[in-house]
Amino acid sequence: MIVTSALPYANGSIHLGHMVEHIQTDIWVRHQRMSGHTVHYICADDTHGTPVMLAANQLGITPEQMIDKARQEHMKDFTGFLIDHDLYYSTHTPETEAYAKSIYVTLRDKGLIDVKSIEQLYDPQKEMFLPDRFIKGECPRCHAKDQYGDNCEVCGASYSPTELINPVSAVSGTTPVKKTSEHYFFKLKECESFLKEWTHSGTIPAEAANKLDEWFKSGLTDWDISRDKPYFGFEIPDAPGKYFYVWLDAPIGYIGTFKKLADTKGLPFEEYWKSDAQTELYHFIGKDILYFHSLFWPAMLHAANLRTPTQLFVHGFLTVNGQKMSKSRGSFITAQSYLKHLNPEFLRYYFAAKMNSSMDDIDLNLDDFMNRVNSDLVGKFINIASRTSGFVTKRFDGKLATSFDAEALPIIERFYKDAAIIKSLYDEREFAKAIREIMALADLANQYVDQQKPWELAKDEARSQQLHMVCTSCLEMFRCLSIYLKPVLPKLIQQVETFLKLSPLSWKHLDKKFAINASEILPYHHLIGRVDIKQIEQLLSDSKNNLSDKKNQENHFAPLAETIGIDDFTKIDLRVAKIIDAVSIPEADKLLKLTLDLGFEQRTVFAGIKSQYQAEQLIGRLTVMVANLSPRKMRFGESQGMVLAAGDGNGIYLLSPDSGAKPGMRIK
Ligand code: MSP
Ligand code: ZN
Repeated sequence: MIVTSALPYANGSIHLGHMVEHIQTDIWVRHQRMSGHTVHYICADDTHGTPVMLAANQLGITPEQMIDKARQEHMKDFTGFLIDHDLYYSTHTPETEAYAKSIYVTLRDKGLIDVKSIEQLYDPQKEMFLPDRFIKGECPRCHAKDQYGDNCEVCGASYSPTELINPVSAVSGTTPVKKTSEHYFFKLKECESFLKEWTHSGTIPAEAANKLDEWFKSGLTDWDISRDKPYFGFEIPDAPGKYFYVWLDAPIGYIGTFKKLADTKGLPFEEYWKSDAQTELYHFIGKDILYFHSLFWPAMLHAANLRTPTQLFVHGFLTVNGQKMSKSRGSFITAQSYLKHLNPEFLRYYFAAKMNSSMDDIDLNLDDFMNRVNSDLVGKFINIASRTSGFVTKRFDGKLATSFDAEALPIIERFYKDAAIIKSLYDEREFAKAIREIMALADLANQYVDQQKPWELAKDEARSQQLHMVCTSCLEMFRCLSIYLKPVLPKLIQQVETFLKLSPLSWKHLDKKFAINASEILPYHHLIGRVDIKQIEQLLSDSKNNLSDKKNQENHFAPLAETIGIDDFTKIDLRVAKIIDAVSIPEADKLLKLTLDLGFEQRTVFAGIKSQYQAEQLIGRLTVMVANLSPRKMRFGESQGMVLAAGDGNGIYLLSPDSGAKPGMRIK
């Protein structure tokens, strides 16, 4: 089987959000390998697009130099977290270029490509069309200044960049002009019946299938797959000056990367990609890129007579201490800063202990992280070996007994028997449940140690044989637990294998045929240490300092507004409001829909605060609203007021009254 993690953008560092995905994939891959399957785990940097081109320009280097450097860093980060990619490649390669072009030509020759003229903003000085994110101007609805080309952070309005008032190019600072050019479109609509069937055939999680039905209902639209030069990407065949949009060649990077691996290892490439391939293809992705992977990607593959994915495994987003990762709060943790302070296997274990097959977000709570790692890994798991192996070394010259203690036998049997359930939990990506089962077994082992009290047995020469069997039994339990934890803790378990003098453990070794009795062990060496609160504090302060200094120095003080009299102020009716419901608007990057209780009535308000707040986290809290603002029609409904928040361009800080304030109270 081919297994992939989504291809990280080359223009950013790997952070713990990426690690959720790679750790999830890696655990699953290692589990499959331990079951005897052949797995090709591939990934690559997603290199193309305007941001890479401009960033390289700014640094005075070529985009190629920039993506090379990024790839080296990314590879180092993934290796640091023990991610076992067979190949970590790039989309800027001859392989991906060849497949992007040939797939495109197939689609074109089948009549699936349309050419249409569209009007866009163009920077006459830089001679380039501007992506939405590179245009700033005044919001056409609320007239807030300095808003991006796609939506307004202040009022939440969505619009097209050509509607912005006084638009300015963020690249050159000049005023862009409207300019028409021809764009190439993939006629997604023509693949609708195939997609409806494909997405309902067990290929994507049920909860994602509902989302797709919404998309089908609102109608599939043609997909703009071209960008005009200058663009860092691949040129479209027979279309001079036109380049593939980055999202066209990004997934094709899965094919290009596999091609490179196949060439290196001599694998039969065709067997993996022909339309009736008997091999399997699994993509691990985050919920934000579901649209691309469940519609564009299978449609392209199907139309190009290639195989479609066996399944998409979709995960949620990482939050840190219950909130979105935020640079200003220091919770935007890069892989590099984590690795500087903490053991990578601790994060692997913690994520595993919280992961399941759903699309729910997963939270890294740093206190919980410390407690969990210390109590489970050090307190429960490693303890079994450290409490018993010393006796084997000192009293029996490192040799294990030939048989187990009779009282331990039913426990050991249970350790073997639970393999079926634990393996199937790994298979279903129910890692949290698997870890719960494994730790329940570790509890049994520790209870057994507590009952048998080897330290007491050791005082009595006459009970030496009993001591020998008890310790040997404990080490058999420890061996089984090591197998169970191996997909999650590959390096630690490798050290265990050395210590127990065992060849590499896999699932088949959960059997009395492979029991450890009658063999030999090395003296126990300290395997892992506890997490110290200081390490976590350092990590957080490091992450805060990581904020680029430039950003820190930038002042976001807006100029003072013109002086007003008290009468002007009292015109504004500010009220304490209780947020009784909050839901995220999936189609809007920034918007949460809030239901506010004023005591005497309820209001619906759309607030552009999604980047800083999780919807659920707001429910129940008090805030302050402008209650007499005239209602405004927005794309998602009517907004009946505004909530108040402070902001400096970095963070958004919702206001709240001191305790004791009641909904509906007026603010004067
Ligand atoms: N380049 C595209 C993917 C192309 S795949 C053909 C992209 N890159 S990304 O760097 O933004 O994200 C890569 C993966 O990391 C995505 O699956 C994304 O969902 C995941 N994550 C990025 N931030 C994340 C969190 N904060 N939490 C969990 N996963 C997140 O999208
Ligand atoms: Zn606005």
